[in-house]
Amino acid sequence: MPFALLLAAMVTKQPALLGVTSYVPWTPDSLRVKQVEEQVTALRSSVICAFNQLLDLKDLNTGVHSTRLAEWGMRVGQELGLEQSELQNLEVAALLHDIGKVGIPDAILRKPGRLDSGEYAQMKRHPEYGWAVLRMLPGFERAALDILHHHENVDGKGYPAGLQGSEIPIVSRIVTVIDAFDAMVSSRPYRVGLPHQEAIRRLVESSGTQFDSAVVQCFISFAQAEMATVFAAAGTSVSSAL
Ligand SMILES: [Fe+2]
Repeated sequence: MPFALLLAAMVTKQPALLGVTSYVPWTPDSLRVKQVEEQVTALRSSVICAFNQLLDLKDLNTGVHSTRLAEWGMRVGQELGLEQSELQNLEVAALLHDIGKVGIPDAILRKPGRLDSGEYAQMKRHPEYGWAVLRMLPGFERAALDILHHHENVDGKGYPAGLQGSEIPIVSRIVTVIDAFDAMVSSRPYRVGLPHQEAIRRLVESSGTQFDSAVVQCFISFAQAEMATVFAAAGTSVSSAL
């Protein structure tokens, strides 16, 4: 289309001339809405970054693993057909699901070896702490609920509510798999992480009891192919994790 004709179409707001049928001309109101949407998106990203830094300060991030696992979680969500709003909540929940651990004493977080029953009971409160913090932020209420349920098991033996199967929000079911996988493969001062193939075997073994089978299948289908590269980049290759 000649530029002059294009310009005329824009000035006179004639969508047909622009070759689009659903063209909606900008108005002061729609521009304002767009600006507010951009501000909300920027604020959302800032909050995620700020909380992520808090996790770093408490040494609760596993570096490249966390980010990559969050990306894989998003891809699982897309494959499973989650709506855009759910995917946004999934991004928050995947990155910040363990934010409540900042409320757990270091003596428990960093205890070498097994926790006793009292310590384990305290540790199990971290989803609740995360929910309590994030629900106070406008726009994060739903992600806060997803975080609250990220340690539920599909057989109802998880915590804090003992929800079963589809009672557990789908975002939480995805994060459960990511979180468990991350925990299995990450090295701690007192133990080395499992090789990723063994972690995958355990995910499959607990499909239908601890984990949602569809989520595990979907996660494995693409994560497995990229795993060796990611782990090598993170400095915890398969051989060093053995
Ligand atoms: Fe957790």
